[in-house]
Amino acid sequence: MSKSTNIIWHKAAITRERREAKNGHKSIVVWFTGLSGAGKSTLAHAVEDRLHDMGYRTFVLDGDNMRHGLSSDLLFSENDRRENIRRIGEVSRLMMEAGIVTLAACISPYRADRQLVRNSMPLGDFIEIYCRASIETCEARDVKGLYHKARTGQIQNLTGIHSPYEAPENPEMVIDTDKLSVKESVELVINMLSGKLKLLNQDSDCFKTIK
Ligand code: ADX
Repeated sequence: MSKSTNIIWHKAAITRERREAKNGHKSIVVWFTGLSGAGKSTLAHAVEDRLHDMGYRTFVLDGDNMRHGLSSDLLFSENDRRENIRRIGEVSRLMMEAGIVTLAACISPYRADRQLVRNSMPLGDFIEIYCRASIETCEARDVKGLYHKARTGQIQNLTGIHSPYEAPENPEMVIDTDKLSVKESVELVINMLSGKLKLLNQDSDCFKTIK
């Protein structure tokens, strides 16, 4: 709910459907959630690479990057994470309205926050992918050195160490990133999306699947 009063929604003449038709494909939000180091960004960017080559208009909203600008005023308290996810959810929704295949990659540790984002979109347009890796695997990888910093008291609130991560109960897909290669994971995601994402058939103006 907005705090502002006396605001009236302006309905755009260029609808999402018109933008999708112009782009030649449907727009959706693909939301990657999981622990830090579970491979969300790697997978989101690799999937984007494939979709881009296939002719889709795409964009990745990466949690770390969003915190450089959109969420630069936020830290890692429960409330700040909630606000961070709300903002990334809102931007995702706008980008979907703009006709873009949007890939969000952020820890998004709280189930309720992810559900709020899901609920803000039409049914079927929010695709949740759980990048699953044990905390032991993520800590062993420690790509950014954050787990070491957490263990030595240099940072607080690290998800999985001092701060909770609530795994999705019914995600559209689970990717076990400690068992699968990036290539195998990308294949699984692309195959799953192929049923949902359609390329516009330029001859007949009707949708056909990308496979
Ligand atoms: S979220 O919890 O609000 O969804 P987000 O995905 O935006 O997190 O940002 C997580 C990134 O911030 C991590 O990939 C990591 O690089 C960095 N980071 C720094 N401190 C923390 C922390 N205490 N907990 C989690 N991530 C942190």
